[in-house]
Amino acid sequence: MTDDRAGSFTRRDFCKTAAAVSVAAVIPGGGVFAQGSDKFRVGVIGCGGRGTGAAIDCLNADPAVEIVALGDLVPDRVASSLKTLTGKFPGRVNVPASRCFTGFDNYLGVCSCPEVNLIVTAAPPGFRPIHLKAAIDAGKHVFMEKPVAVDPVGVRSVIATSELAAQKGLAIVAGTQRRHQQLYLEMMKRVQDGQIGEIVGAQCYWNQGDLWVKQREPNMTEIEWQCRNWLYFTWTSGDHIVEQHVHNLDVVHWAMGTLPKNVVGMGGRQVRVAQSLGGPRVIALTAQVRVLVAVAPADFRCGIDGLARRVRQALADDPFGGAVFVFRNRRGTAIKLLAYDGQGFWLCHKRLSQGRFRHWPTGQAGQTLVAHELAVLLAGGDWSAAAGAPVWRAVAA
Ligand SMILES: NC(=O)c1ccc[n+]([C@@H]2O[C@H](COP(=O)([O-])OP(=O)(O)OC[C@H]3O[C@@H](n4cnc5c(N)ncnc54)[C@H](O)[C@@H]3O)[C@@H](O)[C@H]2O)c1
Repeated sequence: MTDDRAGSFTRRDFCKTAAAVSVAAVIPGGGVFAQGSDKFRVGVIGCGGRGTGAAIDCLNADPAVEIVALGDLVPDRVASSLKTLTGKFPGRVNVPASRCFTGFDNYLGVCSCPEVNLIVTAAPPGFRPIHLKAAIDAGKHVFMEKPVAVDPVGVRSVIATSELAAQKGLAIVAGTQRRHQQLYLEMMKRVQDGQIGEIVGAQCYWNQGDLWVKQREPNMTEIEWQCRNWLYFTWTSGDHIVEQHVHNLDVVHWAMGTLPKNVVGMGGRQVRVAQSLGGPRVIALTAQVRVLVAVAPADFRCGIDGLARRVRQALADDPFGGAVFVFRNRRGTAIKLLAYDGQGFWLCHKRLSQGRFRHWPTGQAGQTLVAHELAVLLAGGDWSAAAGAPVWRAVAA
């Protein structure tokens, strides 16, 4: 667990005990020591917060553990992990430069080390099925962080690899640590004993604030930036339901003693968003967003290109500048919002089922509004009469 995850005290604290138990679950049993060796040697793939944390858990779990290989997409994460581990456990971290691996094939390097008995896979979950398969193919035991995959292809791959691991007598433990936490185990025993009766339904929630964002640096490629900010991309994280809520969904499956027969999904936002990722990924109306309303009506046959042209010509503004541009049609029955998010244009269209947008700025070609005024305008209200508290100081983007 990374220390820089805001508001994560409970999770972090929890991981200190629970994840240690998960990792330790792989360790006993006698089958994991290299033949003729009294050492238990661990390689890590994905040396971020949790990879380093899981390595620490391994070292705490048993004095016979040594960390012997580190792999990560980027060298700075290998270096910082190595520094943390060496600082905390002098003499038990034996990772020469020849066993530090970077680039997308770092996992092949870690898996090819004959010294390694157990691999911790804590890279972004989009890569997990590939990393797991390589580790099992190489004959290593695995502790893999949750989630184990982000799509059906990945899930099928993990199931096939688990069967292979069973045939080879290799252990795989996943980081759904509630399954190993004493409080949960005790509670689940009581639930399954029938102490609260038959379970016929369950609901679970996950409430959490913002997490970290890694800023783009001048020489960073797009792919590196996305992999460093993997939480915000569905191809790397699955989404926040898969990545985070998997823990609590797992508890429900556990309590019910079965998996669902049918699944129905409802909801809106599919990925995490963060303003500091470089702009809204959907049109998010926050205090930082510049809003410019076109006073004159627009021809609503215009799509993105036509409205972007209008931004240039009628509003003398840059359509790529990140502002939200607002247009109304001639009859006053519909509104269009145009915004560029750094990758492409968003175009939102609201058409009233009855009535008109009667309140609209007059005068100049364009009128700047703040977010709460736009919210009133979009609801068909009089933004000028809303009388919100005045903006005291502009919030920096
Ligand atoms: N069980 C838990 O409570 C818990 C807690 C935190 C995180 N996690 C899980 O651990 C995993 C990692 O999360 P984190 O918080 O450590 O994130 P992180 O961003 O701190 O670490 C991820 C690391 O993976 C590296 N990486 C990216 N692409 C890679 C690739 N292709 N190969 C190897 N390394 C690559 C990144 O450079 C980074 O160092 C996630 O699956 C997350 O869900 C589990």
